[in-house]
Amino acid sequence: MQVPLMDLKAEYEVLKPEIIEAIDEAISSMQLFLGPNVQALEQEWAELCQVEHAIGVGSGTDALIIALKALDIGPGDEVITVGWTFIATIEAIVLVGAQPVLVDIEPDCFCLSPELLEQVVTPRTRAIIPVHIYGHPADMDAINQVAAAHDLKVIEDCAQAHLAGYRGRPVGSLGNCGIFSFYMSKNLSAYGEGGMITTDDDGLAEKTRLLRSHGYTSKYEHALIGYNSRLDELQAAILRVKLKRLDWGTQRRREQAAKYDELLAELPIALPAVAPHATHAYHLYTIRTSQREALTAHLEAHGIAFATHYRYPAHTQPACRPYGLHRANLPETEKAAGEVLQLPLHPYLSDEQIEYVAQTVGEFFA
Ligand SMILES: Cc1ncc(COP(=O)(O)O)c(C=O)c1O
Repeated sequence: MQVPLMDLKAEYEVLKPEIIEAIDEAISSMQLFLGPNVQALEQEWAELCQVEHAIGVGSGTDALIIALKALDIGPGDEVITVGWTFIATIEAIVLVGAQPVLVDIEPDCFCLSPELLEQVVTPRTRAIIPVHIYGHPADMDAINQVAAAHDLKVIEDCAQAHLAGYRGRPVGSLGNCGIFSFYMSKNLSAYGEGGMITTDDDGLAEKTRLLRSHGYTSKYEHALIGYNSRLDELQAAILRVKLKRLDWGTQRRREQAAKYDELLAELPIALPAVAPHATHAYHLYTIRTSQREALTAHLEAHGIAFATHYRYPAHTQPACRPYGLHRANLPETEKAAGEVLQLPLHPYLSDEQIEYVAQTVGEFFA
């Protein structure tokens, strides 16, 4: 049996008629500049995240850059985040001219460890970007407490955490703003690029709207130097079709994770932990084992796809060296890098495929 990590083709087969119709309608309307689908998606996303504003942008990376810019973060400023993230979180900080400061993670859920924050706050610190990695929310109360004590802004990186929750509240509503990605592998994904910024702050929302579109205040007037980073109308039309199934898809991911949990329970591996405060969105199902390389070879031999995010964490990347990030002391991050392994998980994977994966992992340890 072949088991892909995810199955976007299967999803497309189910949604094809609706998607084709939505694309046709969008093009036929020729309202392609922040058109009705972008506006409707923004409203739907704001409701889902229980915030006042959602602003569609070109990607999750752009969402981070624009959020940082809108908060006036730039040269001379420091922004605290984790090394355990996709490089975009760090790139955005560097690209606005600020200095990333990396802290270690909690080994069970892989999110920013709040008790390490105080040690790295300096007079230059302006913001914290917790990353709700793999769909598990960071401990936002503890992070917000440190932020409040030092007058720091909090940008939630929710790129992997659509519909995740923290103490009953949706992620994206827990800091000054949140950012989402609609990259093709994400739990809600475009057939191209897309991103969203969420916030309750009217002023921040207004500035974000200006920044995403050349600072336009009216057709010939520009109040700010901004970006060309509008959410594309066609992508918004596609996302709105997929959004109708996001809740179902997320439930399916949770059921699949529960099935893996049950089938893998007796094995000498660490299964994904879920903190008491967390409602996990299971973007990825991440296990830990000291025998990762041998296990991945075994999976490969049995037709099972896998991933190892983040085998080479950001602070070990050559790209980050000029910013001194290689000097960060991140023992838990480094330990996790050698042990993590993501198993296939996607709403369209069958129960038989999940059982086959679990059985194959079981055979390895037998
Ligand atoms: C944690 C995290 N932050 C930011 C991003 C950037 O999103 P995008 O690829 O839409 O630019 C991604 C994913 O790609 C991500 O996983």
